[in-house]
Amino acid sequence: MFKIKSFSSSAKQNAFAIRLILHVLVVGLSSAQLSSNFYSSSCPNLLSTIKTAVDSAVSNEARMGASLLRLHFHDCFVNGCDASVLLDDTANFTGEQTAGANANSLRGMDVIDTIKSQVENVCPATVSCADILAVAARDSVVALGGPSWSVVLGRRDSTTTTLSAANNNIPAPTLNLSGLISSFSNKGFTAKEMVALSGAHTIGQARCMTFRPRLYNEANIDASFATSLQANCPRSGGDSNLSPLDTVTPTSFDNNYFTNLLSQKGLLHSDQQLFSGGSTDSQVNAYNSNSASFFNDFASAMVKMGNLSPLTGTSGQIRLNCGKTN
Ligand code: HEM
Ligand SMILES: *[C@@H]1O[C@H](CO)[C@@H](O)[C@H](O)[C@H]1NC(C)=O
Ligand SMILES: *[C@@H]1O[C@H](CO)[C@@H](O)[C@H](O)[C@H]1NC(C)=O
Repeated sequence: MFKIKSFSSSAKQNAFAIRLILHVLVVGLSSAQLSSNFYSSSCPNLLSTIKTAVDSAVSNEARMGASLLRLHFHDCFVNGCDASVLLDDTANFTGEQTAGANANSLRGMDVIDTIKSQVENVCPATVSCADILAVAARDSVVALGGPSWSVVLGRRDSTTTTLSAANNNIPAPTLNLSGLISSFSNKGFTAKEMVALSGAHTIGQARCMTFRPRLYNEANIDASFATSLQANCPRSGGDSNLSPLDTVTPTSFDNNYFTNLLSQKGLLHSDQQLFSGGSTDSQVNAYNSNSASFFNDFASAMVKMGNLSPLTGTSGQIRLNCGKTN
């Protein structure tokens, strides 16, 4: 009897211990992972609030969809998706906005500020700026005719950042194919995912200074395409003059970016590197002939990008104003 009682009491202790371990595991996982229902009770109208604001910004100016997509990319590639890209410089740190890839180039911060204040009105101190960036990027792609995906949520916002992190992690348009592959591989992406993500350049604009050498020094560019761009991008001057990254359908999220590459009409040096006799040529061909597979792979790669080292649980904070820490 004593033995049985002792057995049963230690079985109870074991069951308790197992439940405790399971509880710790579940709580641990839920604070370390993102989920699609993160705000479903704390901010049920979040997604419709963001979508309405993005649709209105994009219908006001189609390019804004491109700018919002790029903002999320530049956020995630620098210390993870933590809204660090939005932090203005302070007395304590120089932020990311003056980095080579961002200065006089990054756009859409005002739209994010507008969305943030609308979200603060309905759900005060609840939703991170990093999550708003992730949802706004998805809604932008959808607004311009591209694929949709489910955005997992629960990111929190950083309290600091560095200029050097931005300069060291955002790929430059001067990179060759192996440089592009390693820049994305440093973030855990395959070459195929890098090609899919580059398809974001089916929308938006670039400044003359980012593609000038391609117009005057490169052989793998369509001659009449180069000539027509030179008019707006002279050998000197006009650094900020804009040209569409996809000259054919600049405000449609489609697979025309890849079609352009096949005829040597990539705008950036880095764009044409994806189809220049190297290892990614076959993938560019595949996305040109199958837009559904581009859409699928782009959506999956965006989900993966949105998962780059988020702050979760009690790390970081929910900024009240996206441009500065609380
Ligand atoms: C593959 C490496 C990449 C390089 C070298 C690169 C480089 C650039 C450059 C130089 C510009 C023009 C900036 C300016 O002149 O102001 C640009 C624009 C843009 N990039 Fe990328 N990018 C890359 C990947 C990506 C990815 C992965 C995304 C998103 C998923 C993206 C989205 C965009 C968009 C949408 C624009 C247009 C922004 C606007 O019109 O405001 N890029 N990129
Ligand atoms: C700079 O850091 C100090 C010490 O952490 C803090 O008290 C101060 O508020 C910070 N200043 C700004 C502008 O963030
Ligand atoms: C690519 O660029 C890197 C760095 O500039 C250089 O070392 C490498 O030789 C280049 N690769 C090719 C195939 O041109």
